[in-house]
Amino acid sequence: MTIEQLKAKFIEKFGEGDVSGYFSPGRVNLIGEHTDYNGGFVFPCALSFGIYCLIRKTERKTVKFASLDMPFEAEVNVEDLNKAIGKEWVNYPIGVFAQFMKKGLTFDKGADMLFYGDVPTGAGLSSSAALEVVTGVVINDMYGFGIDRIELAKMGQKAEHEYALVNCGIMDQFASAMGKKDHAIFLNCDTLAYELVPVKLEGVKIVISNTNSPHKLDSGKYNERVAECQAAVKAIQPFQQINALGEISWEDFLKVEGKIENDTVRRRARHVVSEIQRTEDAVKELKAGNLVRFGELMNGSHDSLRDDYEVTGFELDTMVEEGRKIEGVIGTRMTGGGFGGCTVSLVKDDAVEAFIQQVGANYEEKTGLKPVFYVAEIGDGGKKIF
Ligand code: GLA
Repeated sequence: MTIEQLKAKFIEKFGEGDVSGYFSPGRVNLIGEHTDYNGGFVFPCALSFGIYCLIRKTERKTVKFASLDMPFEAEVNVEDLNKAIGKEWVNYPIGVFAQFMKKGLTFDKGADMLFYGDVPTGAGLSSSAALEVVTGVVINDMYGFGIDRIELAKMGQKAEHEYALVNCGIMDQFASAMGKKDHAIFLNCDTLAYELVPVKLEGVKIVISNTNSPHKLDSGKYNERVAECQAAVKAIQPFQQINALGEISWEDFLKVEGKIENDTVRRRARHVVSEIQRTEDAVKELKAGNLVRFGELMNGSHDSLRDDYEVTGFELDTMVEEGRKIEGVIGTRMTGGGFGGCTVSLVKDDAVEAFIQQVGANYEEKTGLKPVFYVAEIGDGGKKIF
């Protein structure tokens, strides 16, 4: 959909008058999975697709929410913008409004808001973070609250915790708020110190493969992993004083690993600590232009998520296995929360077509699902577009 078409939809719905437009992207994580809520490193980039929000302030004391993707609509009094609305999509923007209200900020005027997304939902590309961040950017700008970007990302994360009940880390909202075209974000999720690393892939593309098996982040499995990591911290504490798995090096972990009695908890920790190391290494390799090594680390990441963290599943594993059979694939792994969703692969330019055709056909034959492929473009973080 073009910007002009979007504007026309807004006017059709809410009538003639001024309208402003904002956009926040989804993300793809290159490496560093399930490390963010452990205070570790991640390496995501913002995508060129995400969620749009068109808005007009009104004299009414209500905010109207509508979407071009979902039939549910709502009209909420400005004092009630922190009241959850069942399990509807409007809960995400409401969760963000609520964070502004918690800061004691109030809304003098109401608004008409129309949302539209071109990022696939439930695919592990952070459509929910894009929705939260675009809402935060819109409110901040339209009501002149002057909150900085990183704080907006944190507010989006809080909305996810409190209104979607997923105890997620900061990666997705941070990438959506802080992304930069043609860069990946090397983020320390403990301190939020970050570095924008240029992603100049000579002759190589980032290909995202959607398994079309919806990732079920709210199914409780994600929160279960978060709890298992906390259990690992407790099990390590008698031997080394840490508050998060991100505080123990791989070498030190190997010394205490055997002391973690519960096998599941031990394997979860093994994934997290090794993944943090892989992420640091991968960024070094990318900076040194060593894509082959970067790809090997991506492969290692997937295997660890499959064997130790157990968040992949048949569809993601099949997509990765089929990808690895193609000559010209440098590395391939699941991306995002897992349990379905997407893989991310580095593929040589001249192998992209074969990749899409062969992986597509073999994956469909094995799973009965039709995958969708995107050659990723790395875009900017949330912004006003008109
Ligand atoms: C989801 C969460 C993120 C992160 C990833 C796994 O996308 O929202 O915070 O934990 O899973 O790396």
